Amino acid sequence: MTNTNDWWKSAVIYQIYPRSFQDSNGDGIGDLNGIRSRLNYLKWLGVDAVWLSPVYPSPMADFGYDVSDHCDIDPMFGTLDDMDQLIEDAHRKDIRLILDFVPNHTSIEHPWFTESRSSRNNPKRDWYYWKEPAENDGPPNNWLSRFDGESAWKWDAQTEQYFLHTFLVEQPDLNWRNPEVKQAMLDILHFWYNRGVDGFRVDVSYRVMKDPKFRDNPVNPDWKPGMDKSFRLIEKYTKNTPDIHMFNRWIRETNDEYDNRATIGEMNLTIPELARHYGTKEQPEFHLPFNFRLIFTDWEAENVRQLMDQFEETVPDHGWPNWVLSNHDQPRFATRAGTGQARNGLLFLLTTRGTPTVYYGDELGMQSVEIPPDNVQDPWEILSPNMGLGRDPVRTPMRWDASKHAGFCSDDVKPWLPVGGGSDKLNVEVQKKENQSTLNFVNKVTQLRQVHSALAAGSCETLKLSKPVLGYIRKNKVAGESYLILLNFSSHPQTVDIQSSLSKSLSFKANSISFSTCLISTKMDNKTEYNGKSGTLSLRPNEGVILS
Ligand code: GLC
Ligand code: CA
Repeated sequence: MTNTNDWWKSAVIYQIYPRSFQDSNGDGIGDLNGIRSRLNYLKWLGVDAVWLSPVYPSPMADFGYDVSDHCDIDPMFGTLDDMDQLIEDAHRKDIRLILDFVPNHTSIEHPWFTESRSSRNNPKRDWYYWKEPAENDGPPNNWLSRFDGESAWKWDAQTEQYFLHTFLVEQPDLNWRNPEVKQAMLDILHFWYNRGVDGFRVDVSYRVMKDPKFRDNPVNPDWKPGMDKSFRLIEKYTKNTPDIHMFNRWIRETNDEYDNRATIGEMNLTIPELARHYGTKEQPEFHLPFNFRLIFTDWEAENVRQLMDQFEETVPDHGWPNWVLSNHDQPRFATRAGTGQARNGLLFLLTTRGTPTVYYGDELGMQSVEIPPDNVQDPWEILSPNMGLGRDPVRTPMRWDASKHAGFCSDDVKPWLPVGGGSDKLNVEVQKKENQSTLNFVNKVTQLRQVHSALAAGSCETLKLSKPVLGYIRKNKVAGESYLILLNFSSHPQTVDIQSSLSKSLSFKANSISFSTCLISTKMDNKTEYNGKSGTLSLRPNEGVILS
């Protein structure tokens, strides 16, 4: 393993949803040995770090985000030995391993909760949030569960108090203000760091600290019937509360007891809000507060340019941006932005300044898959049906080849979610052989990142182009390298006057540099047209390029 404290800056992170990557033992569910068998693929793709969604023992009410033992592996995914082996094999290939840490809640079946629930006097009673009913005998306050938009408090008849669950009833919230909880949870990080894990993605980190006074959340005046019911209130007292930074620092300090480890915080916040989760230079917080803005912003050139500028303005000097197109909770990028833009999304992700996280399958242009009603698995869809909130469509099996279940599992077993149509063409084996495929495109771009450090680590400056075209320059002064990336967001051809665009930029004077050589086009051919005389470039519909 290359030893560097900054690896997470230039790394390409790849998110694996373990249930769906590769089944190795014929039960139709992906597992650790399956992932291990695909490390060569990840290496070839140019992946530097893999983030695994939870693989710990779990009743699977929320498919692993309800942890019942943080220091083991669910038999469905394998054993601790399998995990050790995976870490070792990945490291041998210079691939780092990031685990998911779920601090906000445990499973209702976690022994801690069983104890806590057993009596009001149990020493672990205060490990979770137990409260008396309000005066009207109802729940202690108006807080709502994210998954059904009903009360986040559940009455427990045995000890006649309510407990808090921000997500499912099966996911009671942990009380991090209790020093024993804090210690027990940080010990879990030690356990995995000591086994060689390179970092953590911290699940809903921005929700962990709640208002100590448990005040009611204000009503959201913009909510209308038909919308997600949990948005009836503004989550003033349940997320991004002032003392969340204390929690962030606990995580960071634990992380920094080890060399070369990194932390990612999951937070769905605006860029100025998330920028505060970097902390200060003296008291740093997350290395990468996850930036979900691309997921929640319409894919339009001007929108993306504004996000880039906003990030550059707000990210502190000791911080580093990051970007993501899709994840296991949100519609796939190719579905959201349209297949025509799938490669532009990837090109942006891999060439803008900031650590990219690629969601498994996006490198093929995988789309969200429609799930037949009798196959629905996600509790969110079951609790809030037909509102488009279900996450099964984005968790379908990875497509390896043209066989019945796309090589995810053998033909004679039923995968836990259907593979979906079109997998005979859209799969790794087919796309590897097609020179102009999306997969080969991603492979080439990650190679370019490795060769031209400006693309991974250089500065970034956007150009103001009055067209549905996004343009930005990556520059590495020391290496004397600069690249111009242009993305045509429209399905019409666009001509860009490179010289005049550059003359408007801050640091490039016209004629000082020409950007006339196309290193790669999303079209994966040599037909991108540059007119040397006029200094203009013709972009085809949906075309994106890197120029040097
Ligand atoms: C996060 C996870 C999501 C999970 C939830 C509750 O948002 O990404 O999958 O359901 O937390 O743990
Ligand atoms: Ca399996």
